[in-house]
Amino acid sequence: MNEEQRLNAGLIKPDLATPDPEQKKEKDYSQYFQTVYTPPSLKKARKRGKEDVKYFDDFEIDERFLGMGKGRKFYIRTYGCQMNEHDTEVMAGIFTALGYEATNSVDDANIILLNTCAIRENAENKVFGELGHLKPLKQRNPDVLIGVCGCMSQEESVVNKILRTYDQVDMIFGTHNIHRLPHIIHEAYMSKEMVIEVWSKEGDIIENLPKVRHGNIKAWVNIMYGCDKFCTYCIVPYTRGKERSRRPEDIIQEVRHLAAKGYQEITLLGQNVNAYGKDFEDVNYRLADLFADLRNIDIPRIRFTTSHPWDFDDELIEVLAKGGNLVEHIHLPVQSGSSAVLKIMGRSYTREKFIELASKIKESIPNVSLTTDIIVGFPNETDEQFEETLTLYEEVGFETAYTYIYSPRDGTPAEKMADNIPMEVKKERLQRLNKLVNEYSAKAMQQFEGQVVEVLVEGESKRNDEVLSGYTRRSKLVNFKAPKSVIGKLVHVKITEAKTWSLDGEFIGVVKQKEVVS
Ligand code: SAH
Ligand code: SF4
Ligand code: F3S
Repeated sequence: MNEEQRLNAGLIKPDLATPDPEQKKEKDYSQYFQTVYTPPSLKKARKRGKEDVKYFDDFEIDERFLGMGKGRKFYIRTYGCQMNEHDTEVMAGIFTALGYEATNSVDDANIILLNTCAIRENAENKVFGELGHLKPLKQRNPDVLIGVCGCMSQEESVVNKILRTYDQVDMIFGTHNIHRLPHIIHEAYMSKEMVIEVWSKEGDIIENLPKVRHGNIKAWVNIMYGCDKFCTYCIVPYTRGKERSRRPEDIIQEVRHLAAKGYQEITLLGQNVNAYGKDFEDVNYRLADLFADLRNIDIPRIRFTTSHPWDFDDELIEVLAKGGNLVEHIHLPVQSGSSAVLKIMGRSYTREKFIELASKIKESIPNVSLTTDIIVGFPNETDEQFEETLTLYEEVGFETAYTYIYSPRDGTPAEKMADNIPMEVKKERLQRLNKLVNEYSAKAMQQFEGQVVEVLVEGESKRNDEVLSGYTRRSKLVNFKAPKSVIGKLVHVKITEAKTWSLDGEFIGVVKQKEVVS
């Protein structure tokens, strides 16, 4: 990689003298910083794939910035999926490396970041609402910096709205610009203008970013970024760039480190983890191969999210069926039970194919728990098509689901279709579906009554600090009384009562190493 590419990626410092504090806010430093903004474009995004993904393994914070956070505090509010949660851990890592301290209160913070989600309109409205709440704080304390990052920043309409209406915002940066955080903050301190740095590009892979993880029991590990599936309703392929996989050796090394540090569970992250490795040109190494390697690492549990039925191949089922640290829970979003709707959604499978795949998985992994995502009220969805979703749910026997009302997203193909299902019909469908989801969840819980399950104890229950809680391998929440010393450990619990969303039980004892009960 040449000097210019490294400079553009923010990996080396531009050749500039340290800014003179006396001249703060007067001198124009903008020439030194890239402020690149192109709106997400379906046309461009669809043509992508020609440009190479760049791989950087030499992330370093420019030494000019190292003391920047001394005596200052940061606050990050995270919206959206696990990908965002993990990005927040990376940003917390960068802040910490810059000398900032974390705070849980916006009133205490010198920098406030909203790490946003664009998946549905209500997700975006929450962020705009929060920006409104922050305005008086900014008026009281103009020195506090307010930033918007995450998926919403990748949308042209959002950036324009912020520019028009939310002058309390000091910086906007995109999902491909997280590693540029030190430069962006630096520029925000120096500039009177709102700093915008959103690269609407394919996305690179940057290794060795610092992280401050949330807790020391469970950890997220990215295995790939982006999405190339372009489901017609979905904004993610535009906000997260093209599918690109981390190198196996980097992932394996990260998981080994986590195991050595005592983490008990990792969740492998990707928008579509089954596509892992498809983009490697030099090796034939796919998700099944990665699982085969990770199975040998001494960490009790490995989860993954999210799977797309598209790339769920037999090799994958075979390796998952071997169990060990690969848990018996697969989240497999179906979205709809109607082949006609699935076709317009661009999901590339039919109802029959999905049922076939689910049966194959269940046959190979007998005690597997299948969960899913469903959208109701997609354009033109008829009552009959919605009924097909209900019957598919029953036929597959999902244990639970995340259910959503369709929300048109800017620039997606589905947005061009009339959003023609009245809101009361959408709500009624959601209610009917949720009733079924509850019934199936309660039924799934019931099968555990009287059984001994393995629980990874995460801490005190949110409702009662006398009670501890944690999850089984099949992702069932279990509440039980036990000494606090078992927090962070795998324990055996005998289930005494099944509820709709959780299980109550009696503590039996700590699991001896290598002993597994599912
Ligand atoms: N990559 C994952 C999904 C990520 S988004 C997958 O394909 O499985 C999480 C869920 O949000 C999706 O599964 C879908 O059910 C829902 N979703 C995405 N776009 C949506 C929209 N425009 N309106 C309503 N729900 C949506
Ligand atoms: Fe969105 Fe589809 Fe990609 Fe999932 S697979 S992130 S739903 S485009
Ligand atoms: Fe939301 Fe972006 Fe995740 S749109 S769901 S935060 S990838």
